[in-house]
Amino acid sequence: ARPTSVRIVEVGPRDGLQNEPGFVPVAAKVALIDALAGAGLKVIESGSFVSPKWVPQMADTAEVLAQIDRREGVRYPVLTPNLKGLELAIASGVEEVAVFAAASEAFSARNINCTIAESLTRFAPVLDLARAQGIAVRGYVSCVLGCPYQGEVPVAKVVEVSQALVAMGCYEVSLGDTIGVGTPDKAKAMARAVADHIGVQRTALHFHDTYGQAIANVLACLDLGIATVDAAVAGLGGCPYAKGASGNLATEDLVYMLDGLGVETGVDLDRLAAAGRAITAALGRSPASKVAQALAAK
Ligand code: HMG
Ligand code: MG
Repeated sequence: ARPTSVRIVEVGPRDGLQNEPGFVPVAAKVALIDALAGAGLKVIESGSFVSPKWVPQMADTAEVLAQIDRREGVRYPVLTPNLKGLELAIASGVEEVAVFAAASEAFSARNINCTIAESLTRFAPVLDLARAQGIAVRGYVSCVLGCPYQGEVPVAKVVEVSQALVAMGCYEVSLGDTIGVGTPDKAKAMARAVADHIGVQRTALHFHDTYGQAIANVLACLDLGIATVDAAVAGLGGCPYAKGASGNLATEDLVYMLDGLGVETGVDLDRLAAAGRAITAALGRSPASKVAQALAAK
């Protein structure tokens, strides 16, 4: 059954901004994160401790974390692909990190320069150190509904990688439709297979909106009882290692739908849309979200 409330993981400051062609100043990132917290978001992915050669846009994550106004009850997780990343995250005082694997070998090689098996081996000490420090770890699986390099991705592989992440201590697995190719029946079947193995409460959705299917895919999966959904304000973003992948599901579109369904989010849509207008103005464009455009025209 559909959940009565949904926990939104806002990924705009990370997934959204990691792919920007131009330099986004620290002050603009900080203002965005603070505005998102002001809109009521309780989990705001705020950056990545990854190689600055691979993803230059996230090279200033330590400065961003030092300057945000950390609110009580709000988490500001970051991506950490290896121990070096976790050590830097610890130095920045984070309470939560995320490791990221893929269900496609070709994508794993391009995104993190190793096989899926090697990535899991590399995450084990990250999980161990995080546990010792009392830091929660989320796991991502990319390419759950298709891969830009290999095409079809078997559901069994998504289940296998998800189970491995939970077995090593991830409290939740976020299922990434990295290139937004999924459609509702396929998304639901994939999410059900994963939830049957790791539990519905450990399953999260992370759908990119490349083909305009993300909101429909979320709705289909909500009916399974999944209650954690990732989204990016203004539909920012894309993945630097997934050419053609557009932004995530826009947070405004998600909140508008959930409001209409009577599903609680704790997010104020007008303040959220204002945060999206401010960051897109700083980037020199307008929000990709239909809901944001409609609200701006009112
Ligand atoms: P590598 O080149 O194989 O690793 O990269 P390495 O250990 O040989 O390190 C290379 C250089 O990077 C060295 O520096 C390291 O010190 C440095 P050098 O000696 O050349 O000066 N380095 C680091 N620097 C800062 N922080 C670190 C770090 N680690 C190494 N943590 C590596 C392997 C994983 C590091 C690299 O491939 C990488 O950083 N990849 C990140 C890719 C990325 O961030 N992708 C986007 C996020 S994933 C995503 O968007 C999908 C998601 O949204 C879900 C979905 O939509 O599907 C999550
Ligand atoms: Mg993503």
